[in-house]
Amino acid sequence: MRTHYCAEINEKHIGEEVTVAGWVSSRRDHGGLIFIDLRDKDEVIQLVCDPAENPDAHKIAEEVRDQFVLVARGVMRARGEGLENPKLKTGKVEMVVKSLVIENRSKPMPFDLGDEKVNEEIKLKYRYLELRTQKSYDIFKLRSKATIAARNALDALNFLEVETPILTKSTPEGARDYLVPSRVHGGEFYALPQSPQLFKQLLMVGGFDRYFQIAKCFRDEDLRADRQPEFTQIDVEMSFCTQEDVITVAENLIHNIFCKCGFDIPATFKRMPYAEAMENYGSDKPDMRYDLKMVDVIDIFERCDNEIFSNIAKAPKKNRIKALKVPKGDEIFSKRQMKSFEDYVRKFGASGLGYFQMKEDGLKGPLAKFFTEEDLQAIVERCELEVGDAVFFGAGEKKLVLDYMGRFRIYLAETMEIIPQDTFEFLWVMDFPMFEVENGRVKALHHPFTQPKTLDYEDIEEIESIAYDIVLNGTELGGGSIRIHKEAMQAEIFKLLGISEEEAQEKFGFLLDALKFGAPPHGGFALGLDRLIMLMTGASSIREVIAFPKTQKAQCLLTQAPSPVDEEQLKELSLRIRQTPKA
Ligand code: AMO
Repeated sequence: MRTHYCAEINEKHIGEEVTVAGWVSSRRDHGGLIFIDLRDKDEVIQLVCDPAENPDAHKIAEEVRDQFVLVARGVMRARGEGLENPKLKTGKVEMVVKSLVIENRSKPMPFDLGDEKVNEEIKLKYRYLELRTQKSYDIFKLRSKATIAARNALDALNFLEVETPILTKSTPEGARDYLVPSRVHGGEFYALPQSPQLFKQLLMVGGFDRYFQIAKCFRDEDLRADRQPEFTQIDVEMSFCTQEDVITVAENLIHNIFCKCGFDIPATFKRMPYAEAMENYGSDKPDMRYDLKMVDVIDIFERCDNEIFSNIAKAPKKNRIKALKVPKGDEIFSKRQMKSFEDYVRKFGASGLGYFQMKEDGLKGPLAKFFTEEDLQAIVERCELEVGDAVFFGAGEKKLVLDYMGRFRIYLAETMEIIPQDTFEFLWVMDFPMFEVENGRVKALHHPFTQPKTLDYEDIEEIESIAYDIVLNGTELGGGSIRIHKEAMQAEIFKLLGISEEEAQEKFGFLLDALKFGAPPHGGFALGLDRLIMLMTGASSIREVIAFPKTQKAQCLLTQAPSPVDEEQLKELSLRIRQTPKA
């Protein structure tokens, strides 16, 4: 229908007749001349309907309203003196319309397209209208570029793209499964894959050597700004590899994606052991765009005159006392503000938050009276304090302190607005613990197919695994591991996780069987594609980078899914609803 996309038209077309097609983004009637801004996928062009030049087109233009669909033919001319629009590629020219066809009309928009403040529910209900905005189009253009770059990079490294089933058996990635009832086998269910983890391992047993997939994954878990129930991974697995080989592939892939999308990032990334990330940043995904590192001061507090602190300090394995220095904090924050930070950490279980101010004449603050001069000086030196700085303390049980001090670190950085926006700080977090113990139950920290460095241990929580996460600006972008490829070790891990032999056989018998038939050493990783695009585009929510996303309550407001089904369908599936679905 068109001769050109709007973005292709410029001064070179002056005098030429062209046809464009798109949506009306605005219309201005200047009593005589009617100006229409017509937008196609990624640019706007100005149409001029002049009754003197073409009364028919002008008459049609009088009917035109926002978001009508038009095909316009006309001759390009230079815009008048001072009327150019430098923001548009087409800003130096305009079309004098010869023929105008209204291909379709539109009801008034239910919200102002492009208005950031509009309620998200309305935008999701009319998602196709939101997608019509330039901002959305740009996000999906980048998403497409990134996905193609990923495919090309992996193809160049001899990875084979293979699809794995969606109707399958549960793979444990730590979330609840989405289940699909079977009609043929009444009372039985498929699970949607939480990831292709087991199938990619089976492809290695199948001798495919290098696999990848742009894979849909499904997890029924609590949703957040960076989580959707249905999301996409760039999923990778390879055989006969070391951890180093896998990391090299991941860095190559990420570097390629960013470069092809026009971002300059390093070819290799920094690394940090998990234990260091937790101790110094209170997180397994520290944001390295700013400093604010925590320091251990438990030995100094052990000598203080305050029983609460000295008692906590007596159990340095179980407990932590961590200091967080804020450069110039004493100058930035009022005393009231410093006290108010306590309210923040209390939300995460802290019983309090101590602080000191570094003054000209030494360390001051409510806690100072409990310390000797030497110990106050020891704190100054340990925390490298200078006049004007503030330092905060968290004390208590290790996990709790690391968690709330880690959150406080982020909160402080946000409050102080010290987080640089246009940078990408990548970090590999390495050597994750194999297990964590919660309420006496042993759980796999990654997944149960991860290879432990050893099974010779005193404390099960101290076993490290050959697992790594890639973190970008404080968000977990991806993760992976070297897998267990021997049946005996896999069975041992299931046992440690409290999974009985029968249960292991029932759930993962096919994997245990496969490991008996010459499974090669193998490992891999998966990157969250949606999160990657979210970080690249600076989107504030993962929903912006998914064409048809779900709400925080896992609903699709556009199609109204999930929705009740007919009694007949339930019967066919051998199902009966125990609770009436909510209206
Ligand atoms: P993991 O569970 O760490 O590993 O997932 C890998 C990456 O997928 C993304 N991700 C999500 N993105 C959006 N919404 C979600 N609900 C969601 N859950 C996860 C994250 C995450 O880092 N099979 C292993 C990988 C492997 O070991 O090879 C796995 O799935 O960016």
